[in-house]
Amino acid sequence: MMPEPDPNQPTIQASMVVRNISQLVTIAQQPIPGASGPLQVISNAAIAIHHNHIVWIGADDDAEPIFQHATHTPRDGIAIVDAQGAVVTPGLVDSHTHLVFAGDRAEEFHQRRSGVSYADLLAQGRGILTTVNATRNANTDVLIQLAKARLNVVRTYGTTTVEVKTGYGLDKITEETCLRIINNLNALEDSPLHPHSHVRVVPTFLGAHTVPPEYRERRTEYVDLLVEEMLPSFVGMAHFCDVFCEEEAFTLEESRRILTAARDLGYKLKVHADQLSSSGAAGLAAELGATSADHLDFASDDELDAMREAGVVATLLPGCSYTLRTPYPSARRLLDRGLYVALATDFNPGTSYCENMQTMIGLAMSTMGMTLEEALTAATINGARALALEDQIGSIEVGKKCELALWSVNDYHEIGYHFGINLIRSILALR
Ligand code: NIG
Ligand code: FE
Repeated sequence: MMPEPDPNQPTIQASMVVRNISQLVTIAQQPIPGASGPLQVISNAAIAIHHNHIVWIGADDDAEPIFQHATHTPRDGIAIVDAQGAVVTPGLVDSHTHLVFAGDRAEEFHQRRSGVSYADLLAQGRGILTTVNATRNANTDVLIQLAKARLNVVRTYGTTTVEVKTGYGLDKITEETCLRIINNLNALEDSPLHPHSHVRVVPTFLGAHTVPPEYRERRTEYVDLLVEEMLPSFVGMAHFCDVFCEEEAFTLEESRRILTAARDLGYKLKVHADQLSSSGAAGLAAELGATSADHLDFASDDELDAMREAGVVATLLPGCSYTLRTPYPSARRLLDRGLYVALATDFNPGTSYCENMQTMIGLAMSTMGMTLEEALTAATINGARALALEDQIGSIEVGKKCELALWSVNDYHEIGYHFGINLIRSILALR
């Protein structure tokens, strides 16, 4: 016999209830009753979901009377997910990747161990151009299979939203092919191995990654091609336009021209800024109201202040410093200036061949001066800010989309401490 509904209980419509969560790390931006600490953690919690949105968060004991049938699966249309004591955080948000490419650059990686620099390789027509060559020559089906396999890895390590850039085509046809692949990744279905794990993919156009070889002696024509042909025809296929503003790639003036044209067409902006040298790109990001400026190894204090005033998210990519063996930029410097700091993998075959956001959290804590609380914030809600999605994802709050990471740890303080292994049990990402 079903118990009679209790008239004193609020009626909340839910299609799914996740129960038996040992610690719910909400990272809520508004105070939540029963939550404590800087990340607003609730012990022994449950979450209710309806139409893929969070509709209720509370103590597991309270779930029972509110969702009367919550001990049975599934009943009256409510699916019950038993988290089996997992720690639950918002799904990780990786706001900077270059996930669509062919080939690898292991040879260059090992050459760099013996002293050849990343900039030298790029100047010799290698580096990014090695991957451009491999990508242009790859069969589209191969590119799709590679990208899908990588996306599977991404979700296995707890990421529920990932930004993916083009930038290894650098001609209109290959850039368009890569954009189509990225957009189609959004349709990657759940698999029996990964139920309810639909990763959100945010497409970015990075035709301005470097000047392709055929335009080497006439680079202005390549910028013309980007501004006059590619950007207008890719409207609607990419949310963001990004530029690699660097001596070996695009000058400050070229970057300003490309980004201004993109902004006028309705793209939101990102900038690869001040990674290898000081180029003024962080200041440009502030001037143009970019959503994020990424890398920032050589950004000046004035530029950082301008970014803060303009609300530009500072995205740190520790995988690059790890791979290039360059000094890790200080997250403390950015945090103490009041910037929003995000962490991302920069997954790419040259400077950060790593899909794993947990590694970035650990590196940021061990080398960039971040606390666990700051690193988790950077890997969730601030990653969402870096994608202009902070109203929808990045924290566990009523009204947000259901994008959760389930961790096989007893306490969230194990994150970043127990390192080098995958602490994620699964993601729960509904679309
Ligand atoms: O973010 N710096 C430019 N782009 C990538 C590297 C891409 C590559 O080397 O293939 C980055 O580090
Ligand atoms: Fe990058």
